[in-house]
Amino acid sequence: MSFAWTPDRFNRRVQQISQPPRALPSPPEIVSLAFGSPDPRLFPAAGLAEAAATALRDFPAYSVALQYGNPIGNPVLLGELAKKLEKDEGRPVEPGSLTITSGSSQALPLVFQALADPGSPCLLETPTFLGTVRHIRFNQIEAVAVPLDDQGLDVGAVGAALDTLSAQGRRPRFLYTIPTFNNPVGMTMPLERRLALLDLCARHGLPIVEDDAYRDLWFDAEPPPTLHALDRHGLVIRLGTFSKIVAPGVRLGFVLADPAVIERVQMFKAEGVTNGFASLVVGTFMKSGGLASHIEVLRRDYQGRRDALLSALAREMPDGVTWTRPTGGFFVWLTLPPQADVARIAARMKEEQVVALPGTECYPDGRGSHHLRLAFSLQPPERLAEGACRLGRAIRAGLHK
Ligand SMILES: Cc1ncc(COP(=O)(O)O)c(C=O)c1O
Repeated sequence: MSFAWTPDRFNRRVQQISQPPRALPSPPEIVSLAFGSPDPRLFPAAGLAEAAATALRDFPAYSVALQYGNPIGNPVLLGELAKKLEKDEGRPVEPGSLTITSGSSQALPLVFQALADPGSPCLLETPTFLGTVRHIRFNQIEAVAVPLDDQGLDVGAVGAALDTLSAQGRRPRFLYTIPTFNNPVGMTMPLERRLALLDLCARHGLPIVEDDAYRDLWFDAEPPPTLHALDRHGLVIRLGTFSKIVAPGVRLGFVLADPAVIERVQMFKAEGVTNGFASLVVGTFMKSGGLASHIEVLRRDYQGRRDALLSALAREMPDGVTWTRPTGGFFVWLTLPPQADVARIAARMKEEQVVALPGTECYPDGRGSHHLRLAFSLQPPERLAEGACRLGRAIRAGLHK
């Protein structure tokens, strides 16, 4: 007889949560533009193999990495990452201001748990990363949506949301934003707007969670400094990941923030060291200069894919469809005209064997039905062109009845 795993055996929240979309490999006949997965052909396997061999010959280093260790992270990776961040941000990384996480997917809930109680509000830039929407929901935080415009988060709308909450006697615990090569829209907040946002948040004492997954992957020009680099008040908590510049499978990310924040974040990290072995390998790869040159290769390659997708969209999309032109990162955000029959388009996309992420996944409140996120990271240029062609046919079917 088997045990009856009836719904009442589970946490009540399980019943309110849908299965997350999963970035699983799709069969070759399908063109998937749905997920921000890097192309496996771009994984630095040879560099990591060499780094692993070197690391495993160095006794004190591997004995630390393979042991249960300090939850802050492996010392080799912490040292190399601090050097990179100091160079990128042009300011020193203070002792105690960095912790390694299992991808930024672990950093998100750790930071949210450290900052917010269940039921408390946060300001959430929308549309946003679907993982963030889920982590906010899991932690029972109330998301107050703040819109983006073509220059990123609308600072006036942040001010208005703060006023509305204040009139109710409430204070948001943090603001979440992806200011550089945003997921899902692909746009970047200019410097002046970054400064205006920091000024507003400093006046209100509002912590900013800056999710910075794509910064290294710029194509046309280096992006403006991170909010963290510009912050003079210790308000910005920067999250980063090695998923897009090394490989998602190394499961390494980090939090860079005021040591008082890192100390609280650590309290929610129940494991010992995070991915000690992968940390040592990636730290060794960085030490050899391998990561810096790999990032150069990725920039050129993803730029070619971005260009291929944009020119295919220009060829294939019917009138009335618009899309963003990212200057870095992985994503293009497509907007369908209001009269588009989205159910019919979704059905035709299935027939055409082309997949994109529905815009509704990127909002906490069901909006986004007339948007699709297209990732150009996984498919080579010719497949991106084929995907745009299939998508064009599906959209045309939903525009003309
Ligand atoms: C904005 C953003 N944050 C966080 C993540 C999660 O990345 P990781 O692979 O480090 O968990 C992603 C991945 O797509 C992302 O786009």
